[in-house]
Amino acid sequence: MDHKRKILVTSALPYANGPIHIGHLVEYIQTDIWVRFQKIQGNECHYVCADDAHGTPIMLRARAEGITPEELIDKTHEEHSRDFADFQVAFDNYYTTHSPENREIAEGIYLKLRDRGHIETRMVKQAYDPQAEMFLPDRFVKGECPECGAADQYGDSCDACGSTYSPTDLKNPVSAVSGATPVEKASEQYFFKLGHFEDMLSKWLDSGAVQPEIANKQKELFEDGLRDWDISRNAPYWGFEIPDAPGKYFYVWLDAPMGYIASFKNLCAKTGLDFDEYWRPNENGDETELVHFIGKDIARFHTLFWPAVLHASDYRLPNYVHCHGFLTVDGAKMSKSRGTFIKARTWLDHLDPEYLRYYFAAKLGSGVDDIDLNLEDFSARVNSDLVGKVVNIASRCAGFINKRFDGRLSPTLAEPDLYQQFEQAGDELAALYEAREYNRAMREIMALADKANQYIDEQKPWVVAKEQGREQELQDICSMGLNLFRLLTLYLAPVLPGLAARVEAFLPVSLSGAGAWSDREPMLDMEISPFKHLMQRVDPKKIDAMLEASRENLEPLSTKAASQKAGVKKEPRTKMTQTIEPIADTIEYDDFAKIDLRIARIVKAAHVEGADKLLQLTLDIGEENTRNVFAGIKAAYAPEDLEGRLTVMVANLAPRKMRFGLSEGMVLATGPGGADLWILSPDEGAQPGMRVK
Ligand code: 2FM
Ligand code: ZN
Repeated sequence: MDHKRKILVTSALPYANGPIHIGHLVEYIQTDIWVRFQKIQGNECHYVCADDAHGTPIMLRARAEGITPEELIDKTHEEHSRDFADFQVAFDNYYTTHSPENREIAEGIYLKLRDRGHIETRMVKQAYDPQAEMFLPDRFVKGECPECGAADQYGDSCDACGSTYSPTDLKNPVSAVSGATPVEKASEQYFFKLGHFEDMLSKWLDSGAVQPEIANKQKELFEDGLRDWDISRNAPYWGFEIPDAPGKYFYVWLDAPMGYIASFKNLCAKTGLDFDEYWRPNENGDETELVHFIGKDIARFHTLFWPAVLHASDYRLPNYVHCHGFLTVDGAKMSKSRGTFIKARTWLDHLDPEYLRYYFAAKLGSGVDDIDLNLEDFSARVNSDLVGKVVNIASRCAGFINKRFDGRLSPTLAEPDLYQQFEQAGDELAALYEAREYNRAMREIMALADKANQYIDEQKPWVVAKEQGREQELQDICSMGLNLFRLLTLYLAPVLPGLAARVEAFLPVSLSGAGAWSDREPMLDMEISPFKHLMQRVDPKKIDAMLEASRENLEPLSTKAASQKAGVKKEPRTKMTQTIEPIADTIEYDDFAKIDLRIARIVKAAHVEGADKLLQLTLDIGEENTRNVFAGIKAAYAPEDLEGRLTVMVANLAPRKMRFGLSEGMVLATGPGGADLWILSPDEGAQPGMRVK
């Protein structure tokens, strides 16, 4: 290759308060494949990442665990590093945003923004928890929607009617931290004037630096003018204090992306790489490239705030921000009750990480569409493609070469044209990897594998082997087969580095070294080493065991046994860290008697198209009386776990018109919300329609 590119690549920084799961892995595997591909191409590519270690949730999680935030982030850093390494995600540096480098970078950038007139302060009223003595992030205030009255809504938006508002608008708000009623309190906040960068951002979005759908989405925001961005938080907060503002901290989303810079800086100190070459604007055209991989949910941070902040503080702009979609499993959101909320570690305990790498590659294109891990399709595809098509070629050919020819390959190629087809396919495949069209690349590679198998099927080495005087033919056929196999594993090496390493152990060529892609000369008259087994079929029992382990991860066995006995599938849930809400003011008995509570059977539960949190329930309340109710319990229950169950509903609540239809009542549930919600169930004997008194 004549021109060696220099590329700095990042994946989004995972929060330091939870485990890596297969949803995260879509991104890290996607990025790692691209990085490995660049390295195999011979490009200089550096892949950096870090834990996103600041913010209120991390502070509160550490408190709940009775440890310091530093202890929490250190522990998580170790776990994350191990998970990534075991999934063969090969960062050149995996750092943390809570680092001296990041503090220095964040302060330096902030001071430039301030001195250049891009920071403004003003008083802002925010929800304040007088008991916990802290300001509350939107997600930590819950209450009734100011628009439609739905209960138990977060402080930023309503799941029932879809309206957005600020936490101070909620009716009967409570703090999720202490249960106290928040009060409004004004304090000075620091804002970044994003609007100063409209022209620059609009040009950058049009420059091909993001996918068209992302560019269009961001540009909608320009219509009303870009709004100022609040970059400060009040103490107590876990993060970096703002230099000229005691008691004020940088909002986690300000210093998080700076963690990319800090992680690279830390790498430079270890390796002698030139920091400025990668982070300062290059007047003579970009000689280095900066590429970010992120999920579509954080596009705004990376395609508006981030480029504006970089530009304003003398850093270079990203060449490309690639957004991917979300992962569903068997067509639905990952679910703890179904065991499809699979942690990286649980996967590793049961299945080969390369299966997942291959399956994701077979699914991922260059767009922002969601991808589905269908577990049946998954094992069928891995077994048929990798084991049945690819690995099979080697096991059909290597044995004869080892046993009959002392491991020696033929001096000539039996089918030079066929080899040339395979060799030339390397150029097209490289273009597909480069464009992140991995799904198309996998299809092409499997079409080549079909051709290789067809060649062997036609030549029938196992027949030739039994016939006298056909020795040379046998050696030629098997050598040809191994030469084709070698190119297939080279082309798969970015996706399957473990397989590539096992193949490198028996073939005399490099498949994963720097620049290996450009050496596609056939192996002639060379010696191979004894062949060892390369990959096993997916064992469906192991998939079941993994799902079971994911279900059990959170649920003690005793309650599971008990719930099975009762014929009720009880939800495994995370440990509660919330405190109990205070008891409300007393009411008269007559007020209570007005509430008509009924036993209801959930005859049907279904997802609601376009609603993140809702399930649509059809409730039988006796005497052929059914009610349609929308309940915000999707994160806590899979529909099939609810069908057939008895619960309690408010039957005389005035029907409410919601975005998705009419809701005719309400089911009773407890818990702080999200996945931590439990609907009420009566004891055995209760029947649909009975009044609850
Ligand atoms: O959404 C998240 O999980 C964030 N922790 C991603 C941060 S990416 C970068 F900006 F740091
Ligand atoms: Zn609402």
